[in-house]
Amino acid sequence: MKLIFSLLVLYLNFSSVLTRGAERSLFSTSFSDFSGSTRHLFEGNPSETSFDKAKGYMTNAELEKAVKEFGRRCSNISRIYSIGKSVSGFPLWVIEISDKPGVEEPEPAFKFIGNVHGDEPVGRELLILLANWICDNHVKDSLARLIVENMHLHILPSMNPDGYALKRRGNANNIDLNRDFPDQFFPMNNDEEACQPETRAIMSWVRQIHFTASASLHGGALVANYPWDGTQDKRRYYYGCPDDEAFQFLASVYSRSHYNMSLSTEFQGGIINGASWYPIYGGMQDWNYVYGGCFELTLEISDDKWPSAEELPTIWEYNKMSMLNLVASLVKTGVRGRIFSSDSGRPLPGSITIKGINYTVNAGRAFADYYRLLTPGKRYEVMASMPGYKPKSTSIWLEETATADFILDPDSKLEGSTPRSICDCSCDSKAKLVLPEFLLGFHMEATLSSTTVVVDMTAPVVAQNWG
Ligand SMILES: *[C@@H]1O[C@H](CO)[C@@H](O)[C@H](O)[C@H]1NC(C)=O
Ligand SMILES: *[C@@H]1O[C@H](CO)[C@@H](O)[C@H](O)[C@H]1NC(C)=O
Ligand SMILES: *[C@@H]1O[C@H](CO)[C@@H](O)[C@H](O)[C@H]1NC(C)=O
Ligand SMILES: [Zn+2]
Repeated sequence: MKLIFSLLVLYLNFSSVLTRGAERSLFSTSFSDFSGSTRHLFEGNPSETSFDKAKGYMTNAELEKAVKEFGRRCSNISRIYSIGKSVSGFPLWVIEISDKPGVEEPEPAFKFIGNVHGDEPVGRELLILLANWICDNHVKDSLARLIVENMHLHILPSMNPDGYALKRRGNANNIDLNRDFPDQFFPMNNDEEACQPETRAIMSWVRQIHFTASASLHGGALVANYPWDGTQDKRRYYYGCPDDEAFQFLASVYSRSHYNMSLSTEFQGGIINGASWYPIYGGMQDWNYVYGGCFELTLEISDDKWPSAEELPTIWEYNKMSMLNLVASLVKTGVRGRIFSSDSGRPLPGSITIKGINYTVNAGRAFADYYRLLTPGKRYEVMASMPGYKPKSTSIWLEETATADFILDPDSKLEGSTPRSICDCSCDSKAKLVLPEFLLGFHMEATLSSTTVVVDMTAPVVAQNWG
């Protein structure tokens, strides 16, 4: 009896691994070995059944049309742009939603990426529905308004349009894009030029826009997956990143706002650490946290990769509050603020660390604004630093969200010399002559937009809670 039972358990486990394997490929490292091999050129047309399952889903041309129509209809809160092209030359369209789209502001940015895997099309449909819902409701709904007015939301409905057209996981070169990023544990994909165009587009996008957090949408399971996705020794066990707590919190924001993700019997609370589920390497999620300064989740939003298109409105309803609450968490949780110089009032693009968490969040280059996601209901020691300046720290009780602006003093050891930050690039005499005027400009701007900070210039740290 016991034996039969364990066999049954084994069977159940195995079948669930197979289901997931379809999603988090078991062939993670060897998958790309076959890339570019000519056999893929003779794969032929998608089979009749795969043609049928796409019935009612947008084609790539229809998706492009939906994006452009959105841009026209909602032009006062959006901007349409492309971050590059797929292997076959299809533009990777992005919808940016904000009351000042395309304008850099001291606000956090979030990105949503759908259809990383060509055969997981639910996400791209939901993202178009999300954009339209925000457009239709940003005047009357407070959550939609909060998103439009206080942050920048960037939506890439399809990262892999070629794979979608082929109804398969990989891109046109049959590479799994979620195994194509540089990896922290193993030397793979380190030659960026050799990465797929879709992967390179994401990497340069992340370097260009300072995203605080993001999520990619997948199908084949119902769970919110968080870092790490891999382990040092390739074995499977729980392996949390330095921000494990914050990630569990963010993943729970998604699962708890979902119709029934948190009721999962397979995944406690509807969330899972990637490495404890199935380790993968070269994934986009870990790359974002390690190299992009961006907290990324991998969201599995449907057990069935191709539910009937008639179910899409229902699946959207199931995910709507999750998507909105996750995006809004950038405004509703964590410590945020700006860093200034005490001598000029100029914003200092320094960095923020939290005592006990081995991770650095960089402030934005233009406004020196930072957004540090943290689990609410705890006390944190927040430190701001900047080369050439003395670091400062403050202790904050984080109800839900708190603001801490820092005013740093130049390091006296460096007094007389120009702070390194200003002269990182070429510091010829001409640039030095321009400098005082440049500082004055910043000073005035800071005076206008951030009175608290400049008026209080002698106070070491201005910290207030606005939970
Ligand atoms: C955008 O336009 C709509 C319709 O004209 C208007 O109701 C809304 O207030 C505008 N939104 C913003 C953020 O300006
Ligand atoms: C969630 O609801 C859907 C639709 O009713 C169902 O198919 C699925 O099994 C449910 N999942 C969980 C974890 O309850
Ligand atoms: C902090 O993380 C870095 C990698 O980002 C690692 O090299 C270093 O050893 C870690 N430090 C501690 C004290 O764990
Ligand atoms: Zn996937």
